[in-house]
Amino acid sequence: SPNGRTVWNENMSSSMLGTRLRKAVLNYQAMNKYGVESSVSGQANRSGPELLCQFKTKVDAVSTLTSDLQPLASLTLSTLLPPNPLTSDLGPYRSCAVVSSAGSLRHSALGKEIDSHDAVLRFNAAPTAGYERDVGTKTTVRLLNSQVMDEQRFLSSSLYSSGVLVAWDPAPFSADLMQWYNRTDYPIFSQYQRYRRLHPLQPFYILHPRFQWQVWRRIQDNIGEPIQRNPPSSGLLGTVLMMSVCDVVHVYEFLPSRRKTELCHYYQRFYDAACTLGAYHPLLYEKNLVKRMNRGTDRDIYNHGRVTLPGFSQVNC
Ligand code: C5P
Repeated sequence: SPNGRTVWNENMSSSMLGTRLRKAVLNYQAMNKYGVESSVSGQANRSGPELLCQFKTKVDAVSTLTSDLQPLASLTLSTLLPPNPLTSDLGPYRSCAVVSSAGSLRHSALGKEIDSHDAVLRFNAAPTAGYERDVGTKTTVRLLNSQVMDEQRFLSSSLYSSGVLVAWDPAPFSADLMQWYNRTDYPIFSQYQRYRRLHPLQPFYILHPRFQWQVWRRIQDNIGEPIQRNPPSSGLLGTVLMMSVCDVVHVYEFLPSRRKTELCHYYQRFYDAACTLGAYHPLLYEKNLVKRMNRGTDRDIYNHGRVTLPGFSQVNC
């Protein structure tokens, strides 16, 4: 690449990882904890526009659990679920930001730019307090995994009090709701109910498990090797979610900038290359596809860690 300014190589493969990460990826591939049934017939050469079209037409984005949804409607849970879909509280927006949590956000000075968007999505326990200069202050939506919801502070911390909350849990591949309800990865439903009782006015949704596996299928169908049979990372799920409620989505430090670091999160002193390259999640492959769909320049990635994706309303298939 020109001037040694290397950005994400869209043909990254597990064989290009170091020994430790490569082994972790192979282990997860063999495991199949969620009962994924899929043949590997990946076609690695679809163009960015073709990929955008697939995500638009083959993924029910923003599909959430509503109070009337069978067979959950007879459970106490359903009385706490929203009656309406996510779009009744979210969007449509013109311009949106997805803030990845990566360590490379440190010293990025991207805060003002991030806040200039109409809506900002953040992940899990990512704070703004103390990091405003680099990540901004606005939180319109926070995507939470069930592991974070299982932490002690989830019910009490003010970290979660702004914006719309959206939760997900790695469900069985079948996306069968009762199977999932009876065997979640983490106690998403009990924690959801506790949080809703404590904060009844804050909009809080749970993603339908079919969403994560439809996104997973898009990845496997477009990669020429078997990917981890685990759900996609929050990063890609949040990006696809925002693409369905925004005209344009800017994703920050998902494809690492020149600030690329082994620091896992901008808010924690913990170093692990797996945070950026993936071990449990098929993150490596997610990044290959996002690189191909990017409408911005390599320079934007290199300098600002910024990727620009069209919202699905702007994609003609
Ligand atoms: O770790 P966590 O899931 O909370 O981070 C949010 C998302 O940001 C991840 O799911 C991943 O997609 C992305 N991320 C990344 N590189 C990092 C840390 C996070 O791409 N170093």
